[in-house]
Amino acid sequence: MTTTLLRGRTLSFLRWPDSADDHASYAYEEDGGVLMRDGKIAAVGAYAQVAAQAGGDVKVIDHRPHLILPGFIDAHVHIPQMQIIAAYGAELLEWLNKYTFPEETRFIDAQHGRRIARLFLDEMVRHGTTTVAAYCSVHKQSAEAFFAESHDRNMLNIAGKVMMDRNAPDGVLDTPQASYDDTKALIAEWHGKGRQHYAITPRFAITSTPEQMEMASQLAREHPDLHIQTHLSENHAEIAFTQELYPWSRDYTDVYEHYGLLGKRTLLGHCIHLGERESDSISDHGSIAVFCPTSNLFLGSGLFDYQRYRKRDKPLRIATATDVGGGTNYSMLRTMDEAYKVIALNGEKLNPLASYWQLTRGNAESLSISDKVGTLEVGTDADIVVLNARATPGMRLRMERTGTLAEELFLLQTLGDDRAVVEVYVAGKAAKTTMDQAA
Ligand code: GUN
Ligand code: ZN
Repeated sequence: MTTTLLRGRTLSFLRWPDSADDHASYAYEEDGGVLMRDGKIAAVGAYAQVAAQAGGDVKVIDHRPHLILPGFIDAHVHIPQMQIIAAYGAELLEWLNKYTFPEETRFIDAQHGRRIARLFLDEMVRHGTTTVAAYCSVHKQSAEAFFAESHDRNMLNIAGKVMMDRNAPDGVLDTPQASYDDTKALIAEWHGKGRQHYAITPRFAITSTPEQMEMASQLAREHPDLHIQTHLSENHAEIAFTQELYPWSRDYTDVYEHYGLLGKRTLLGHCIHLGERESDSISDHGSIAVFCPTSNLFLGSGLFDYQRYRKRDKPLRIATATDVGGGTNYSMLRTMDEAYKVIALNGEKLNPLASYWQLTRGNAESLSISDKVGTLEVGTDADIVVLNARATPGMRLRMERTGTLAEELFLLQTLGDDRAVVEVYVAGKAAKTTMDQAA
């Protein structure tokens, strides 16, 4: 039995923070303790009290004066796009055809898939992210490689092989039947193995024939407890092409609705240009709009209207994500900095507490995994990030003028990146220093 006691400034959210002064929305201990036993959080609170419960045989790791938070959650990311991040000069459909699809053809090679999966999860951990919802390539072996790597590290991750059978090069196409068979085999092998979750992953309406959408529909009916992930309403040319391919549909959302793909575990990447009917339908189904600010800006796709979606009569459930490699940074701190700016361009502000609620408990609730991750609550998995708001000379100087916790968090979001990540615990084990030492 491994028992570790972390000491530092602990912060965990209880609910959405209405303002930077909403102190009832979180639990914070200036001298806090988190007791980790067998991969779970066994006790949390004031250090003296937690230490008293810990018993004799415990290893204490003193992270003072740093902040101890639940590990970050990235709700939409593409593993096979690590080597085309920062590809110049294209909007979505051109970017997919020119850079993305050719790159993804390489993942027919299982060894390449395993190498990238390893480097991908290293990069996630370095940036403080402990859970992702990830797209693998069309190749079954790319998902096998990812799950094998994730399982070896005992990480809670959600992933699936993309289903795509048209409008892309042959090297990244399957068929309706092959996509069904491969998905079934992957679910049987990986869903529920350790901390692995399978997501049914039709890439988007443009790259699936109606026959393949039927297969996705059948998979969703056969596995109602699984996540579904796809893309929706990212860019105007994409929306127009979808309308041509599915002329009977009332709008883009209707395509997924028609095939029974909207549910409480459906993650809809982007959702930038939704009509009111579409937003109402997504809200009625309890599906999740995934905000990918760095990607939406980089590809020139548009400004996700976070506050409007949140406050409308039928509100949307929202998650945030990097969307690497359309997204331009692996860091959820950098992502929330860009989210703040996009929300500002829409005439609103996102208070700093709400930012950190979003990338911990908020994303966990949107992914229906908040019973396991996203908080520091007793009984949940010990996935934790330790942050240093004085990580660089500029941050140190700025901290001289910083008083409140909310100000410190905002500084970390605005100036912080992987350098601010001191340590990451995955199921109670120090993952970042272990990785650094191995390197
Ligand atoms: N739409 C369909 N596939 C993709 C992808 O890989 N990235 C982004 N940003 N949008 C998509
Ligand atoms: Zn995407």
